[in-house]
Amino acid sequence: MSTQTTVAIAGITGTLAKLITKHLLSKPNVNIKGFCRNPSKLPTSLRTNPRLTIFEGTFNDTNLLRETVRSADVTICCYMGPDSLMIDGQKLLIDACIAEQVPRYIASDYCMDFRKLAFGDHPIKDAMKHVHAYLEEKKDVIKAVHILNACFLERPWVGVWDAEKGVLSYWGTGDEKWEFTSYDNSAEFTAEVAMDGNANGFLSFRGDHISMKEVAVVFKSVYKEEPKLQCLGSLEELYKTMHATRDRNPKDFYAWLGMWYTYYSINGQTTLPLPLDNSRFPDVKVVTVKDFFTGTEKKDIRKKSFF
Ligand SMILES: NC(=O)c1ccc[n+]([C@@H]2O[C@H](COP(=O)([O-])OP(=O)(O)OC[C@H]3O[C@@H](n4cnc5c(N)ncnc54)[C@H](OP(=O)(O)O)[C@@H]3O)[C@@H](O)[C@H]2O)c1
Repeated sequence: MSTQTTVAIAGITGTLAKLITKHLLSKPNVNIKGFCRNPSKLPTSLRTNPRLTIFEGTFNDTNLLRETVRSADVTICCYMGPDSLMIDGQKLLIDACIAEQVPRYIASDYCMDFRKLAFGDHPIKDAMKHVHAYLEEKKDVIKAVHILNACFLERPWVGVWDAEKGVLSYWGTGDEKWEFTSYDNSAEFTAEVAMDGNANGFLSFRGDHISMKEVAVVFKSVYKEEPKLQCLGSLEELYKTMHATRDRNPKDFYAWLGMWYTYYSINGQTTLPLPLDNSRFPDVKVVTVKDFFTGTEKKDIRKKSFF
């Protein structure tokens, strides 16, 4: 039996994918086949690694997809984009995996527990529900892996932290708990899951579970500055505002998307299933909000860079 593991990664130029690639390449005996539309977006440190082979093309080039996943032990999808990519593109990739007898497929989820949402609740998450259903149909021929990590720790601050005013904003009472996992932790867990053929189905990982009022305390302890807490309204008001904003201009994605994520992150509907799977991979040291603040200059909280 070969001691080499081959991992195919679709959307390898993405933020999460590059971190997963870094973690996988830190292990011996792993070869990666990466699929993307523009390899120049990869940092030189990855592009020049002899254990990484790049396949360049479009997401609907089925021959190229099959070539990419051929002989892989597992395929990791890291696409992020429109439904044509997230639903149709993933189905093409899953079909390519089945045609090439790849035994496992890690879906491009990395989010809240979308199973607890109805179709239409949080439109961006419908894609995950469609792909989950498709993988269920194919469960006799490919094992599905769904990684749930709630909100990336680096992501919510644009709507929350105003550096100029020193204000930390929240919806609700401020006691609702957010679940956070850092990009890098999620990538590290995903790399471990990819290497463990027994880690299948839904897996949940979490770095922190903390309310905005608690975040304010951590903020003060790290930056020695007391943030002003500002309530933006109740959860019911958030619900009305996010719908009204989207209805006014559905195409102005960035005007409403953050509010939808906030609502479903803190309303309790999509909390990660317990027990968490963190302890399956004890070598991964989880990053908390305190760790994130400690490793991030205050001016960079809203724009953490990774490579
Ligand atoms: N839980 C959270 O808070 C959270 C936050 C963000 C993302 N996520 C999830 O994490 C996963 C990865 O996200 P990310 O932040 O790493 O995304 P990202 O940095 O935007 O990367 C997305 C990848 O998809 C590729 N892509 C986009 N449109 C494409 C197209 N039409 N054809 C082919 N490839 C295309 C991109 O290629 P190019 O480099 O060429 O553009 C890139 O490789 C997704 O499942 C996303 O939903 C979760």
